[in-house]
Amino acid sequence: MAEFSSRIENLRGMTPQDRRAAVARAANMSDADQIALSGADGLPQTLADGMIENVIGKYELPLGVATNFTVNGRDYLIPMVTEEPSVVAAASYMARIARGCGGFTTSSDAPVMRAQIQVLRPGDPHGARQRLLSARDELIGMANQRDTVLIGLGGGCKDIEVQVFDDTPVGPMVVLHLLVDVRDAMGANTVNSMAETLAPRVAEIARGEVRLRILSNLADRRLVRARVEITPEALKMDRFDGDDVAQGIVEACTLAIIDPYRAVTHNKGIMNGIDSVVVATGNDWRAIEAGAHAYAARDGRYSSLSRWERGAGGELVGTLEMPMALGLIGGATKTHPAAQAAIRLLGVRTAQELAEVTAAVGLAQNMAALRALATEGIQKGHMTLHARNIAILAGAEGGEVDRVAGAIAAAGEVTVQRAAAELARLRD
Ligand code: MEV
Repeated sequence: MAEFSSRIENLRGMTPQDRRAAVARAANMSDADQIALSGADGLPQTLADGMIENVIGKYELPLGVATNFTVNGRDYLIPMVTEEPSVVAAASYMARIARGCGGFTTSSDAPVMRAQIQVLRPGDPHGARQRLLSARDELIGMANQRDTVLIGLGGGCKDIEVQVFDDTPVGPMVVLHLLVDVRDAMGANTVNSMAETLAPRVAEIARGEVRLRILSNLADRRLVRARVEITPEALKMDRFDGDDVAQGIVEACTLAIIDPYRAVTHNKGIMNGIDSVVVATGNDWRAIEAGAHAYAARDGRYSSLSRWERGAGGELVGTLEMPMALGLIGGATKTHPAAQAAIRLLGVRTAQELAEVTAAVGLAQNMAALRALATEGIQKGHMTLHARNIAILAGAEGGEVDRVAGAIAAAGEVTVQRAAAELARLRD
């Protein structure tokens, strides 16, 4: 895909059609992809019927595009599906600030998923563990017999781990983990099949009975990291000095690090950005949510997924690390035309690249929330966006929306009735 700029002037002031055209021009999108992203039969009924059971229809959500993202020196336009106002605007705005400071930097582990095989009633659990570890090569070989395509791509089962739980309500237990490089897949089907194939042999070696054979959504071998460095000058806002904003963000983050009540809301803000991309690209957002929150509690106490600190030169440094089991092939990423178009719009070439860009969006979203919370609070921005919705409900179109929204917000009367009156006045 040709290089393009993720800066699109005045995208917000356009109609949805004009925005789509502007995004299509910037990203060199095909007509078919534009139609898929417009929502005009983005998911044909026949496809929907094949995806889940007892289908009676389809459920629509808005698809927006966040602009300004630079990740590892490359520009990306970000498709985001969400019902929450201000998420897309906040991501775009923070990406614009970050862009002026060099953008986001990311890295990630190889796409390694875990599958668990639970062995009950092993006579000698620690002996079973050692026998299983001794059979490592045999078990890896067996796992890799099935999926020759994955092996050809450099993936496959790479290692095993074995845990012993000596004392459980159902007696001692041994749990074998398969560590599988799933390449560009999310990997659930691949690792579940491997676990089921290996189960009888594992039971034999462990001299126990196998019960569960299933992936773990705590994808702690598939971590992604995003980082951003912002100069205090870039954080200046209205009556707030940039240095104060940077310090406010650090102090706000500190509460999320030490207090689970704050951490969960802080992380929810990160997931506002991440889930929007995960849904837009047809990935399993429950898997991402489950993995994120389990990882946030990995030290035995639920904490912040991100860190915000001051660098030696006073710059604000934000970092995020979390599991990110995203795929580019299989599931809805393969069957849903709008998800496929969204992936092409992103222009990512591997699942790892998708995971890294998604993490950058999460960090941008976190920065937006903390910046607002540490200064004027979030209600002002939310009310402005709410006022836009009310203006649209009152019939405002195009450039009228911002003018009517501004008038009713300034009057402190964000109602459809007042918006209608302002609209009538404007049109007069
Ligand atoms: C709202 O959806 C998200 C925030 O609550 C996140 C946060 O508090 O950090 C604003």
